[in-house]
Amino acid sequence: MVAAAAAGRIRIDNITKTFINEADANATVRALSNVSLDIAPGEFVTLIGASGCGKSTLLRLIAGLIKPDSGSLSMDGEDISGPGPERGFAFQDHALFPWLTIAGNVAFGLKTQGVYAERKADVAHWIERVGLKGFEKYYPHQISGGMCQRAALARSLIVSPKVLLLDEPLGALDAFTRMNIQDEILKIHSGEQTTMIMVTHDVDEAVYMSDRVVVLSPRPGRIRETIEIDLARPRARSSADFMAYRKQLLNILHLGGEDTGADYVI
Ligand SMILES: Nc1ncnc2c1ncn2[C@@H]1O[C@H](COP(=O)(O)OP(=O)(O)O)[C@@H](O)[C@H]1O
Ligand SMILES: [Mg+2]
Repeated sequence: MVAAAAAGRIRIDNITKTFINEADANATVRALSNVSLDIAPGEFVTLIGASGCGKSTLLRLIAGLIKPDSGSLSMDGEDISGPGPERGFAFQDHALFPWLTIAGNVAFGLKTQGVYAERKADVAHWIERVGLKGFEKYYPHQISGGMCQRAALARSLIVSPKVLLLDEPLGALDAFTRMNIQDEILKIHSGEQTTMIMVTHDVDEAVYMSDRVVVLSPRPGRIRETIEIDLARPRARSSADFMAYRKQLLNILHLGGEDTGADYVI
């Protein structure tokens, strides 16, 4: 059977990250400046903010794909020094392998960990869990974008990560498919108690899904504000409370129509 993942705590302590500009080696980009954030086990945190404010950089740091210039990151008390299976990620540009079937893609993590033989049944479990039963033998180009996103989720969840990093995972989907997969992710979040850290550009998605929304501002990327979403789940997207959070977020992002000096474009 599939073991439930124990949830992970992420601590981000005063990190700064600078990149050298590819076009001009003398110019540097301060992607993140003095960012601190504690994420509790099982928490659902959304990062939102203008393009270029460091959201993907922050996820890549947590994934261990890059290192900060200063400050520290830890998971469950241990420094993050590289990628690890306890931190799964589903990034928008992290496409399925086109040469593998859906089942092959979902099985990939088990194979690289050398546990496929004993956990073969998990492949069917996760394919069913994301609503792709019957599509096991299809290749990515034979199914829709939404189905590929579901398969990508199953592929990252099958190895029971304690933390799942999602970088605009639903960005390319139509509104209905998107709402549908939001619910699938929330079901998995509550079922597995996985800590989830998701980047989105969609204010409604942030309010619908998160325990906490972290608003970043650019140049340099910093935490501008954090909002706890104190609403029971499942959330009603048209309730007055929901709309109040939505409005609060839009105003912080200067997109609420109440601030004419908008320097903030999502
Ligand atoms: N590998 C890199 N090399 C140079 N600059 C980078 C690199 N990755 C990100 N940046 C720069 O860092 C800033 C933050 O980027 P990113 O984290 O991708 O922002 P976001 O995901 O919020 O749009 C941007 O100015 C971007 O151009
Ligand atoms: Mg990004």
